[in-house]
Amino acid sequence: MVTKVVFPAAGLGTRFLPATKATPKEMLPVVDRPLIQYAVEEALASGMTDIVMVTGRGKRAIEDHFDISAELESSLHQAGKDELYQEVSRIARMAKIAYVRQKQALGLGHAVLCAQPWLGNEFFAVSLADELMVSERPVMQQLQDVHAQTGCSVIALSEVPVDEVHRYGIVQANKEGDLLRLTDMVEKPDPEDAPSNLAMIGRYIFSPRLLDILAQQQPSVGNEIQLTDAIALLAQEEPVYGLIIQGQRFDTGNPLGFLIANVALGLTHPKYGDDFRHALQDLL
Ligand code: G1P
Repeated sequence: MVTKVVFPAAGLGTRFLPATKATPKEMLPVVDRPLIQYAVEEALASGMTDIVMVTGRGKRAIEDHFDISAELESSLHQAGKDELYQEVSRIARMAKIAYVRQKQALGLGHAVLCAQPWLGNEFFAVSLADELMVSERPVMQQLQDVHAQTGCSVIALSEVPVDEVHRYGIVQANKEGDLLRLTDMVEKPDPEDAPSNLAMIGRYIFSPRLLDILAQQQPSVGNEIQLTDAIALLAQEEPVYGLIIQGQRFDTGNPLGFLIANVALGLTHPKYGDDFRHALQDLL
């Protein structure tokens, strides 16, 4: 069972400007909770207990969100707003979180490497909060299942339309039983260079060997230390499996995907769903 999970959350959120000028993109709300909370809850529901959040300049709101706000809790309590009080105090106590700063934007691979002192020599997970998952069995748990079965690294995959492969890390894979064994991967390829239409969707379980590879790695595309390059090297040394996830995923890292996620989760929301459906019908 993998218990440690890294959340790279130092990115500048340029795809979301101006909304992210003063607000971390991880704090943008889908319906009534910030993106990062969905990903944290998914990890916790998958048995992951130790979180390392890699943040940067302007990301203090994330720390505040998962911290105890005694003033807010007591004013909600005194006002008899029990439901809100419960929710606010639950969030502050839900997880054990260590924060580390990525001081320069040197890429996703570098962000993961910043968490190394907290990881030790064991398998660990990485979760990108701008991919929002809705599934019966949490996606991280689906990865845990494959890791328990194989003892190896495993990466969540999803098919994407060919005209979207340029947004993702795209894998090349061979079928091995009911799993996919990854043989190579390329970050944000042009459609004609893409080895498939299977995209990595921001949920990973890695062997600790990945950290050694990242530590040796030179910057590539965009002058950044790319996680995808390190995974490709790892896959040459030891098995790395891919799992096409069961469930829905929303790429909330761009405004359109974010809007779609809000509509989808709004429609199924226990409190707002029915009214929202009627309001949408009126709008259409
Ligand atoms: C990152 C990864 C990419 C992955 C994607 C998932 O890209 O580098 O391999 O497919 O997340 O959303 P980013 O969205 O940070 O550009």
